[in-house]
Amino acid sequence: KSSQTLKGKNVLITAGPTRERIDPVRFITNHSTGKMGYALAEAAKNAGAKVILISGPVNISPPPGVEVVKIESANDMYHAVMGKFASADIVIKTAAVADYRPKVSYDHKMKKQPGDSVIELERTKDILFELGTLKKDQILVGFAAETENVEEYARKKLETKNADMIVANNVKSEGAGFGMDTNIVTLIKRDGTKIELPLMSKFEVAEKIIEEIAVIPKGFGNE
Ligand code: PMT
Repeated sequence: KSSQTLKGKNVLITAGPTRERIDPVRFITNHSTGKMGYALAEAAKNAGAKVILISGPVNISPPPGVEVVKIESANDMYHAVMGKFASADIVIKTAAVADYRPKVSYDHKMKKQPGDSVIELERTKDILFELGTLKKDQILVGFAAETENVEEYARKKLETKNADMIVANNVKSEGAGFGMDTNIVTLIKRDGTKIELPLMSKFEVAEKIIEEIAVIPKGFGNE
């Protein structure tokens, strides 16, 4: 039984993919299944936290005793997160949020035309970045899904997003990343420490992340 290291804390966790609508029958998305984020919700709940899980469309059930807010697009995710941020003590951004969405979303099904076609994309809001600029004494934890130079990119994200910890996920390693029941991650903290975790189940990874968050001093990243 895990100890109550987050007793009384409000923890906001995002999970799953987003869907960016092209027309009523098509969308752009990614391979996130929500497993990592839902495991974190369970581990945080077990550690005594009050958990809000903001989730994109997934096929798994949330752990009992967790409040779930279902969203679809990156823009929905942005509004849901912003609405809950002020009352959160800890935010963990596991969701694989789309960086781009179609510039135009049609309200009728796009018809086939002769020849090739182009869908113009525009940037979505970088939610993690915005939280980094808004944060007061919240602990902000981001993920970094990379296929190369994982640690270097993760350290950069820690700075540019004003995060307290980045969970660096090499999504190319066997047994790690999207869809799997296991993961391989490296935790990089604000004080420079790096914790390389071996291949573990997503739930064990989640417990370790929660353990490490629990020892981050509040407001640490705000000096
Ligand atoms: O869901 P699973 O199948 O279990 O897979 C787990 C996972 C691979 C999705 C997860 O472990 C993971 O790595 N999540 C982060 C995926 C991601 O989008 O990484 P990124 O490097 O593109 O984004 C970096 C950080 O910025 C993330 O915390 C992300 O939530 C956040 N972000 C990204 C884009 C955006 N517009 N706003 C954001 O806040």
